[in-house]
Amino acid sequence: MRVSLHVNVDHIATLRQARGTPYPDPVHGAILCERAGADGITVHLREDRRHIQDRDVALLRELVGTTLNLEMAASEEMLVIAARLKPDWVTLVPERREERTTEGGLDVAGSAERLERFIGQLGSAGVPVSLFIDPDPEQVRASAAVGATAVELHTGDYANAAPPDTPAELERLMSAAALAEEEFPDLRIAAGHGLTLRNVTALVARVPQLVELNIGHALVADAVFVGIEEAVRRFRAAIEAGERRR
Ligand code: PXP
Repeated sequence: MRVSLHVNVDHIATLRQARGTPYPDPVHGAILCERAGADGITVHLREDRRHIQDRDVALLRELVGTTLNLEMAASEEMLVIAARLKPDWVTLVPERREERTTEGGLDVAGSAERLERFIGQLGSAGVPVSLFIDPDPEQVRASAAVGATAVELHTGDYANAAPPDTPAELERLMSAAALAEEEFPDLRIAAGHGLTLRNVTALVARVPQLVELNIGHALVADAVFVGIEEAVRRFRAAIEAGERRR
């Protein structure tokens, strides 16, 4: 199956917020990404609004013609926003104020009751939910149990692993995806965090259950040098190289 590329445009907003200017606009960036072949746009509306703003999400909801994935914490404030804007997907992520980026996956097993209720509330608003989890069998099983439609496997450890450790981190992703496929055939399997042009091809090749990737920082970084449309095309090509090796 073709792997969708969802571009996370948070870091266009990071650059804008660094100066408090109206530019560069992540909404403009999202439209260029779609034009270059992205299959979806992802944004993380953080409680502290450090990059993406409410105005960005509202405009993206109007303008994105592919799919809009809203990453957010499982908080009351975010529930109200998501129920009003109705993104195509919500991805629930853990959020800590002091972290530089999302550092670990959700502890679904440890907060099952609360998450089940939250997923139910989003479901009543017509919004399917993905849970961002570490590639851990317990978290995969807990995600299915609380009613998630999808899981996004955290690839941060794989991305950060130095070469001798890379196969072990890839193995963890492979086994989590294989378990999910075998035990929960309807669960959609995505992945993301820390993916680059150097590590994405092997991931796609070795984890054939993946149907979607969320990629932000490295793609926006590449865009500084080659332009965002070219950066999207290069990531698409790297993903397709992995699909051919499946
Ligand atoms: N997926 C999730 C759930 C994330 O929180 C992030 C970072 O916001 C990403 C994917 C994208 O990670 P990166 O910016 O490292 O590509």
